[in-house]
Parts: sequence; structure tokens; C-alpha cells
Amino acid sequence: MTAKRLYIKTFGCQMNVHDSERISGLLRNEGYRLTEKPEEADMIIVNTCSIREKSEQKGYSDLGRFAMLKHDRPGLILGMAGCVAQQEGEKVLKRHKGLDLVFGSSNIANVPQMVQTIALKSQPVVMVHEPAGPPKTTPADRKDRVRAWVSIMEGCDRHCAFCVVPTTRGRERSRPSAEIVQEVTHLAEAGYKEITLLGQTVNSYGKNRDEGVDFADLLAMLNAIHGIERIRFESPHPCDMTPKLIETMADLSKVCEYLHLPLQSGSDAVLERMGRGYTMDQYRRIVARLRQLVPGMAFSTDIIIGFPGEAEDDFQKTLDAVSEFEFDNVFYFNYSRRPNTPANRFEDQVPEAIKEVRFERLSILEKRLARKKNQALIDTVLEVLVEGRSKRDRANFTGRTRSNKLVHFGGADDEIGRLLNVRIASAGSTYLEGIPIPSRSQ
Ligand code: SAH
Ligand code: F3S
Repeated sequence: MTAKRLYIKTFGCQMNVHDSERISGLLRNEGYRLTEKPEEADMIIVNTCSIREKSEQKGYSDLGRFAMLKHDRPGLILGMAGCVAQQEGEKVLKRHKGLDLVFGSSNIANVPQMVQTIALKSQPVVMVHEPAGPPKTTPADRKDRVRAWVSIMEGCDRHCAFCVVPTTRGRERSRPSAEIVQEVTHLAEAGYKEITLLGQTVNSYGKNRDEGVDFADLLAMLNAIHGIERIRFESPHPCDMTPKLIETMADLSKVCEYLHLPLQSGSDAVLERMGRGYTMDQYRRIVARLRQLVPGMAFSTDIIIGFPGEAEDDFQKTLDAVSEFEFDNVFYFNYSRRPNTPANRFEDQVPEAIKEVRFERLSILEKRLARKKNQALIDTVLEVLVEGRSKRDRANFTGRTRSNKLVHFGGADDEIGRLLNVRIASAGSTYLEGIPIPSRSQ
């Protein structure tokens, strides 16, 4: 029997990217193999994102395009997964006539049954409820052979005024630590060298379980797994950066010197209206403590521009914060009104034109700072985990430093998955270039 072909289009965060790997892993057992060509597929799944309006619209427009393929391939199964599917549920069937399958991220484990039901009943199947109990462990069809995403918890119990996630991904639920340890052990046996633990507020792991294992304990358990060289995680919430976690990060050799710690705004007044639960001073203390304990610590962050009520003075404080913390990378977004969120009802919305100008100002500052930080690394020697051939220049290789900097260098295929020391020769705002140096241990 020839394999059926599956095409998945993924929007949004790493969690969605990994969810798509899980969907594909489960459907592999049903005889589906991934294809890069939607026009060849027997099943197409669009894994949607609703974090901002633009990402939501892109998902809808792709669904419309893929539905047209049904004219030539009447048996094609068209599915919608992810946060927009969760948000809209049954309603999307009216908007999109061609849909056969709609499911939320909490229902991924049920994908094989849903596909079997479609085959039997030939009518659309919708599953967007939040099942009781912890997230289920599923197989995953990982593309990368060196670095792996591992989802450790789902959902979010915080209620940031701008954010749609608590309504699309539900209450916080953590996986049992033993299942996570087992998954990472298998990954190490399969040759993976780096893991990135995923969760919406990854460092509140364990709060809703009675195992007595918190995020710092979990890191220690994973640090002990032979074969894994590097551990990362995202995204932590500043309120859960406990002294214990900070000290654990400093103590564990495999936990990388890099933290993506979303700040959102440099103005206490805006942070308060966002409902973030911390002040600039509290955030400052976390950064200072980590820099004190961990040499070479790098930080990145998320910033929202033009949250309702953001005055020029508030925005200036954000620019000041970006300069003060010397982030290695800043991800910034214009505020986007989202359904069923408190900030959608705030009256003092900032006009789009003002957001655009502020966006440009932050962009100029961020690029200048990033270049300066990267140039300071010229002539230093950094440990790089070789990921594979560079997409930009196939003759070259790429990898990342422990501080998560992208490095291009000359290499060889048999070095993929190995740790190399690279002397940095030049730097742009988003990458470094260097030359590997022979290490004494080789
Ligand atoms: N804790 C989560 C946050 C998810 S959203 C995680 O990183 O896993 C990722 C980022 O999108 C947020 O940190 C925020 O900066 C941005 N974002 C969320 N809602 C937004 C909105 N309504 N408009 C613009 N940006 C938003
Ligand atoms: Fe969203 Fe805030 Fe949770 S940004 S994912 S509600 S911590």
C-alpha cells in the first residue's frame, strides 16, 4: 500500500511548531507521510495562530486556498488545528465549507480517532474541548536531528489583558515529570544533543500537580540525562523566576546562559494595566541576579508597542528599558485587539499610525544594540552546536552558541550534532561568522 500524504502548514509559536510534529507523529501510525507539496496531499492541516489579527487572517486565507484543491482531489481531507480552531469551534464550519476536521491543541492525542470517524461518517468532525487530566504523551515526527522541542505543560492561568492564550489553550496543565524524563531519555538515545522545554509559562511547571516537583527540580532531573548537552526553555514568566530557579540555572552545567524573558513594556503604569504582575524594579532584580551568578548570560525579550493608553512617555520608558537591559534580541509587536480579552474593551486605543512610528523607532534602536552586542564578540572563542548546512549558503554550516547566537562557519557533514569551538571573525545584527578551531579533546 502506498503511503497517504500529509501536508501541514504551521503558524505561530514554537508550541505550534511542536504540535505539528506531534500531529504528524500520530498520523504516521495511520499511514500518512509528510509531503512538501499541498497539491499532492491526501490530507492538509492548517495549524493556526490567533495571537495577533494578522496571523489569524493568514491562516484563513491559506484554508481558502487549500479548499480549492478539493475540486481536483475530492477525497482530500482539510483540517484546521491550533488556537483559531479552538477559539471558533463549530462556527468555522459555516465560514469554511470545505473543512472536514477542526480540533484544538488539547485534542491532538485524539487525531487518529477523528480521522477514522471522518472515513466512516463522511461528515465534519469538531473537537475543541479541554480534556480532564494532564496533557497526553504522544509520538512526534521531529524534523531536526540535533535539537528537539519538548512540551512540558499546556495552557496559562495568568490573564494578561492583551492575550488570547488563556482562552485558546485553557487552564495550566503540567505533564508528569516521569513522562518528561522518559521522553528526553529516548531523545538522548536517538542522538539529540539539545532540548528546549516548552510551555506558555514554562517556569510555573508543576504548580497544578501534587508530585512536589517544580520547574527547578525538573531541570535538575533532565540535567542528569546522559547524552543531552544543552537545555533551554521558553517562555518563562518573570513572576515565576524564583530565587531557587535562578540558583538552579546557575548550578546546572547543561542549562544554557540564555533567557527569553518577556518584558512587554518599560512603563510600570502600562505593566499594571496589562496585568503582568511585576514592576520594572522586580524585572531589573531578576536580570541583575542572573548576570551576577552566570557569566556571559544573554537575554532576549518580547515588547508590545501601543498597548491601550500607552503615552509617549510610557513608550520612551520602553526604549530606555531596552537600552538598559542590553537585550541580545528583542521581538516586538504592535498591539493587536483580540476577541474576548479585557484590553479589547479599553477605550484609549492607540491609533495605528502612532504604533507604526513607535515600531520604527524601536526597530532602529534594537538593530543598533544587537549589532553592537554581536561585534563585542569578535575575536572571542565560542562553543557552537553544529546544526547543519546553512540555508543562506549551502557550502557553509550553522549552529548556535549557548547564548543562542546564530553562527555561520565552514564545516563538514560529519560534524553535525557535535560541539565545536569557533573563533568569531565578523558580526551582523542577527548572526556571527567564524572559523572553527581544533579543540584539544579531539
Ligand atoms: N508566555 C507566552 C506568550 C505567548 S504570546 C509564550 O511566550 O509562550 C508571545 C508574545 O506575543 C507575547 O509575549 C507578547 O509580546 C505578544 N502578544 C501577545 N498578545 C498580543 C497582542 N494582542 N498584540 C500584540 N502582541 C501580542
Ligand atoms: Fe499570554 Fe500572559 Fe499567559 S502573555 S500566555 S496570558 S502569561
